[in-house]
Amino acid sequence: MRKVITYGTFDLLHYGHINLLRRAKEAGDYLIVALSTDEFNWKEKQKKCYFSYEERKQMVEAIRYVDLVIPEESWEQKVSDVKEFRVDTFVIGDDWEGKFDFLKEYCEVLYLPRTPEISTTQIKNNLGTR
Ligand code: CTP
Repeated sequence: MRKVITYGTFDLLHYGHINLLRRAKEAGDYLIVALSTDEFNWKEKQKKCYFSYEERKQMVEAIRYVDLVIPEESWEQKVSDVKEFRVDTFVIGDDWEGKFDFLKEYCEVLYLPRTPEISTTQIKNNLGTR
């Protein structure tokens, strides 16, 4: 069984997220999503989520492509996650192109093209104008 892992916040879930998760699952048989905790988002990205970690986790777990959701609590956990879960492929959107090449020592690394014209930030900025 080929295992795939991806990382992200997935706040205000949208079709760009679903597209990413569908293609991530297609890269293997079992998809793990490491979901950023509220503390990690705030400390490391100065981002405050609309939905809490538990709310986002419930939604991501309900997606048919997702097999397991684990917390993302630090930048450094990726190598240990890949080892612990015996991950074959790391997947992330190409806004991160090149940033995680150090993982190539441990697994395949795939940067997938982002779905154009949609993001959590864009939803927040445009609410009420559509
Ligand atoms: N993603 C994507 N296409 C989009 C938006 C996101 O493929 N249009 C991917 C990202 O590249 C990442 C994953 O979905 O691999 C989770 O992205 P996240 O940062 O949670 O969502 P964004 O909508 O990009 O949020 P923000 O606007 O806060 O950056």
